[in-house]
Amino acid sequence: MSVWSPTSWRERPILQQPTYPNKDELKRVLKELGNYPPLVFAGEANRLKEQLADVSKGDAFLLQGGDCAESFSEFHADNIRDTFKALMQMAVVMTYAGGVPVVKVGRLGGQFAKPRSSDTETFDGITLDSYRGDIINGVDFTKEARTPDPERMIKAYNQSVATQNLLRAFATGGLADLHKVHQWNLVFANKSEVSAKYEKLAQDIENSLQFMKACGITSKTYRNLRETDFYTSHEALLLPYEEAFTRKDSITGDWYDTSAHMLWIGDRTRQLDGAHVEYLRGVKNPIGVKAGPTMDPEDLIKLCQTLNPENEAGRLNVIVRMGANKVGDQKNGLPRLIRAIEKEGMNVVWSCDPMHGNTIKSSNNFKTRPVDSILTEMKQFFQVHKAEGTIGGGVHLEMTGKNVTECIGGSFVVTEEDLSSRYHTHCDPRLNADQSLELAFLIADTLKESRK
Ligand code: PEP
Ligand code: CO
Repeated sequence: MSVWSPTSWRERPILQQPTYPNKDELKRVLKELGNYPPLVFAGEANRLKEQLADVSKGDAFLLQGGDCAESFSEFHADNIRDTFKALMQMAVVMTYAGGVPVVKVGRLGGQFAKPRSSDTETFDGITLDSYRGDIINGVDFTKEARTPDPERMIKAYNQSVATQNLLRAFATGGLADLHKVHQWNLVFANKSEVSAKYEKLAQDIENSLQFMKACGITSKTYRNLRETDFYTSHEALLLPYEEAFTRKDSITGDWYDTSAHMLWIGDRTRQLDGAHVEYLRGVKNPIGVKAGPTMDPEDLIKLCQTLNPENEAGRLNVIVRMGANKVGDQKNGLPRLIRAIEKEGMNVVWSCDPMHGNTIKSSNNFKTRPVDSILTEMKQFFQVHKAEGTIGGGVHLEMTGKNVTECIGGSFVVTEEDLSSRYHTHCDPRLNADQSLELAFLIADTLKESRK
């Protein structure tokens, strides 16, 4: 294999990149970013990798979730707090009802760049560049907004720093204390059934905490009761940005992408000889690769060999996103990928992204996802693993702690007519707080069942 360096991806074919009109400006910005402090440290990425190794053995569960795309306009402490709370709430449901520790990874603090199915978009006879995420261009349909602007990388970096800072404060400064279990509940005007179910579970936990207190175990005496580990992740799509944050760990001499703890390769950019695979093979972070319905078992094996040549447990997460009607298919679905990996004895963390294979257009023209299809894909994913005797280790979700109306269905029903009322996403439709919680209860049941 050729020699890797932080810039060796530049020699490979690359997809899904913007064309910046001003190359000098691009150079200047990248140089500036290269001098900025890292967002995460090597030791933290290593700790996540160790926890993901537990996930691969069935001793923990991976919960990865957040926005499809973070945006400059929705940047607000309340949004970050509510997504954090929603993830904490889901994690405690899975831990308490499902009986396994949960590794929490946000699609947050750098999830800005988006792959698109077409390079351009045409409206009323006008053709402009597609929107590629706030780190690249603006969502408004004007020439000015759609022109890629390098300065946006600096703004995205600053927003990521502030987000990461707040997440660290939440994780270690009090909000993650298990005694706050009631406060994580996101209750809206019409209290839902699932939210009431959560309150009951929170009460049970509070009773247990009372008992533990009587035994001398409190937040003061036991760190795990008052703090949590919360990691960040995003798709490593915009490689010039990732390159600028590729730093050598002074202790080991290894390279890390310090823009997030975990990075993944999207379903559209996972070509074996492509730039994205080349870049991520050289950094030591835990990494993911999306596996859509066109993933070939032989290619998956080659990807594992390239991305995880030492077959390190916890290094590689295969994020399966095939769609509810495809994942269980014996001939073309998940079973044949699992069998190939098992045959080669490769270590991977299997997780389920039930979002990206289930996107549809509603009759009133909204991009949406039926909660039923999301739940079905999840169930099938775990059933396939059970049948194959392997571990379904985690989920990867597009979700928010807000009461948005972007996906249809769920226990507090969102209808097609409701979509227009609170449809805020900059890219794909997200599960709202109730829909996410409903999913967490379903996963908890599955975990209890499958890990008896
Ligand atoms: C995403 O995770 O937002 C995404 C674009 O996914 P995929 O690469 O699986 O389509
Ligand atoms: Co998406």
